[in-house]
Amino acid sequence: MQGLASQIAHRVADNLEPVALSAVPIEITPLIDHLNTLFLRLKQAYEREQRFASDASHELHTPLAALRTQAQVALKTVDKKERFLQLQQIIASVDRCTHIIQQLLVLCRLSPERIMSEHFSEIALKQLVSEVIAQLAPSAVSKGIDIEMVADDTTRLFMGNATGLYAMVRNLIDNAIRYIPEKGIIKILVEYKTDHTYLNITDNGPGIPIELRSRVFERFFRVLGTNVQGSGLGLSIVEEVVQQHKGTITLATAPEGQGLSVTVLLPYS
Ligand SMILES: Nc1ncnc2c1ncn2[C@@H]1O[C@H](COP(=O)(O)OP(=O)(O)OP(=O)(O)O)[C@@H](O)[C@H]1O
Ligand SMILES: [Mg+2]
Repeated sequence: MQGLASQIAHRVADNLEPVALSAVPIEITPLIDHLNTLFLRLKQAYEREQRFASDASHELHTPLAALRTQAQVALKTVDKKERFLQLQQIIASVDRCTHIIQQLLVLCRLSPERIMSEHFSEIALKQLVSEVIAQLAPSAVSKGIDIEMVADDTTRLFMGNATGLYAMVRNLIDNAIRYIPEKGIIKILVEYKTDHTYLNITDNGPGIPIELRSRVFERFFRVLGTNVQGSGLGLSIVEEVVQQHKGTITLATAPEGQGLSVTVLLPYS
């Protein structure tokens, strides 16, 4: 048995591969099977962390390099008015970096390894959506955007991760506000179906071309030419939360033929 244990340890250490069940005595097959499953999860978590660290450093490198150049230029500028403008640009760049870091932190906290079932509590989605709308109201008002919400009178609670769901709804409504033009309209619908909660957010903005609808869920992916600042992480956060709740998300063209319609289904159990 000791020979087998060291053989397994070597295989894991040298090749990072699970042990083939045919190579172990039948009595310990269930144990090895279980260890193999744990091993694969650990390997996936490790690979995810590595990808995450590499993506994050890559994405932060560019704005930080720009920030350094802006600061060097400001240092050499004698004219007070011009230096003031340059300092304002520096603040905007710092805000961009802060936004990327905040989104990365949200995504990091949502990773499957960090979310346990005890982080789940009873959720009233209608209330949660109203809270997000209230929080984002100032940015909507500043663009003259109208947010209409329609929800079932009754509320059905389900077990969910409140922080994650808040981030999901916030990113979806934030996108709608940011990508639609001034005086646009956002319609939000919350319905309690027999086996799931239904959430739909429809806007009348430019929408997302069909061929890019699966790519926008990739980390750091952004549609070119929007002229809107962002880190490309919002929809990755949304997708992570939806998966965590065993739900589904669909992007479609708004019924009016223009704009984005996002539908999220969250099963009760
Ligand atoms: N409602 C929308 N209308 C039009 N385009 C959208 C909408 N929502 C998302 N997009 C497009 O999908 C891309 C990815 O969205 P996502 O929320 O992941 O990132 P972001 O908004 O660029 O950055 P972040 O949300 O991290 O600040 C956006 O860059 C934008 O081009
Ligand atoms: Mg976004």
